[in-house]
Amino acid sequence: MSPLRLVLAFVWIAVACGGERRAPASATTQTPQAPSTTPAADVSHGEAAIGSADTAPVDPQAPPRTTATLRRIRIEIRHAKVTIATGASYDAWTFDGHVPGPMLRATVGDTIDFTLVNRAPMPHSMDFHAAEIAPSRAYVNVMPGDSLHYRYVARVAGAFLYHCGTAPVAMHIANGMYGALIVDPKRSRPPAREFVLVQSEFYTQKAGGPDSTALALDWQKLLGQAPDYVTFNGRAAQYATAPIVVPPRAPLRLYVVNAGPNRVSAFHVVGAIFSHVYLDSSVTPSLSGVQTVDVPVGGGAVFEVRLAEPGEYPFVSHAFADATKGAVGVLRAKE
Ligand code: CU
Ligand code: CU
Repeated sequence: MSPLRLVLAFVWIAVACGGERRAPASATTQTPQAPSTTPAADVSHGEAAIGSADTAPVDPQAPPRTTATLRRIRIEIRHAKVTIATGASYDAWTFDGHVPGPMLRATVGDTIDFTLVNRAPMPHSMDFHAAEIAPSRAYVNVMPGDSLHYRYVARVAGAFLYHCGTAPVAMHIANGMYGALIVDPKRSRPPAREFVLVQSEFYTQKAGGPDSTALALDWQKLLGQAPDYVTFNGRAAQYATAPIVVPPRAPLRLYVVNAGPNRVSAFHVVGAIFSHVYLDSSVTPSLSGVQTVDVPVGGGAVFEVRLAEPGEYPFVSHAFADATKGAVGVLRAKE
């Protein structure tokens, strides 16, 4: 078992068992510092350097709600190395050089004017789950050096996946080609602190070539649905390393999208109960007062929650093999 997995396993045991918890972050032993560099209290127990991520975490804040009725979106496909866990880089296929791709937002009724440019050495494409459009026209392969343009009206509100749809799709998704598009209802949701979490998996082996430190896709692991890493926003446990700081008792809204390609997310916040969950396109609550909700592969949901008091609240996929592999983060409620 790798040190990271060992620590992640410990994280869960410490959180689940509760009794060994240390004082919350507001205790006097914590000196004030930039929140994004302070590891969660339960996350490091001195055996592994989980608090020393080699890159800054992906900003989980949702982009601001837009008022434009014409949304021009241009995305470039590039093959690039990305960090998928502390000390682990991966030869990814990306939208705009990042995994996940850009977090996008629109409002119901907006026209999305979309341009896709392929700077990669192989065909790729783009499938927006928020669109109602003929895939045979829009979700077609774009050759290297070529581009594609199409428009659609975002008619339905929700937290939507977008992804490359080039065959084999599992390979293109597992290599990093996905992201989230939030579509707001016409009448905006009530004010809240808003975050976007895209869950996904990485199936790895040592990449060939001179850079032996990088990882690349292991197709057999993918077919066997045995990922090495399961991540929120493309990096294992990044928000356990750098907790997301929020005020206690304030309304929070989490847009959770599951890119997969294989694992259902059993989304849960330890120490909290979701006041409302909006499945996919619902603008009225689908569920109220729920502990754990499945987000299917290729699906999304909007979670509303308040954290009752200052402290640290892990969020996980409650499919705990996946949490152990990195589908874990921390919401730090701090006055
Ligand atoms: Cu692709
Ligand atoms: Cu799809």
